[in-house]
Amino acid sequence: METVETRQQLAILLATWEADGQAWAFVPTMGALHDGHLALCRAAARDYPRVVASVFVNPTQFDRADDLAAYPRQPARDAEALRVVGVDALFSPAVEEVYPTDEEVTRALPDLGGLDQRYEGAMRPGHFGGVVQVVRRLVDLVRPAAMYMGQKDAQQLAVVRRAAREERWPVAIHAVPTVRESSGLAMSSRNARLSPAGLARASRINAELERAGGAWLAGASPGSAAAAAKTALGDAGVEVEYFDFVDPATFEPLAPNGLTQGATKALIVAAAWVDGVRLIDNRPLARD
Ligand code: PAF
Repeated sequence: METVETRQQLAILLATWEADGQAWAFVPTMGALHDGHLALCRAAARDYPRVVASVFVNPTQFDRADDLAAYPRQPARDAEALRVVGVDALFSPAVEEVYPTDEEVTRALPDLGGLDQRYEGAMRPGHFGGVVQVVRRLVDLVRPAAMYMGQKDAQQLAVVRRAAREERWPVAIHAVPTVRESSGLAMSSRNARLSPAGLARASRINAELERAGGAWLAGASPGSAAAAAKTALGDAGVEVEYFDFVDPATFEPLAPNGLTQGATKALIVAAAWVDGVRLIDNRPLARD
């Protein structure tokens, strides 16, 4: 695996792949990699001859300086993990490489249709704008045929898809299903901060997503399925911030008492607190 830190080194490497007629896929990350990230790299390596992964802690998507400063950084471990799963190039640029001051690299955001304002966007003002800015910039630099992102961050994925569609980014975007612990808990670097009892409580989030999803598929209204899940989670000591059925493309909540028989696609989104740690998860639902 080659590690490149500058735009120029990256451009030289990509030119050699291009000359060899090899297409490449891209996996953007902020490092602190776990099996969920590695699943993205494996999917990319399965589908494309070459894979570039980036590790870049993007300052523009943090709304709090202390959060940015505390973000876990483990470059040597990350590089080794990427090498093992078959990534060909690691792009790990400094902030000045991504956002040079002598060049105009930031443009106005495309219309995100309010998608960036709901749920995670409401919690973290400006967050999704920063995500779009950096993913667009990285796609410009890496010029991949395809990009792989995790379903775990479903709203981020929807925002990036929307921006890509609005601006016609020349890249296919593939979603990779959430990787879970054997307990069902979605993998996240935050799980390391949970106590053993907290880990057990946190696994209830996925269990309730499954149960509520099953209820909806069987004809229950979004309101009643979500209310039952919230009660069960509260009883288990999980503090729910939101647990809602939404339209997967817009993140508009489904009408709580609406007739659901006609809807073929839904997404349940959840955010909850366990042991003072904020966790998010979701469950896509589809029926014929
Ligand atoms: O999901 C992440 O790690 C980040 O938001 C991303 C997509 C790498 C952009 O910085």
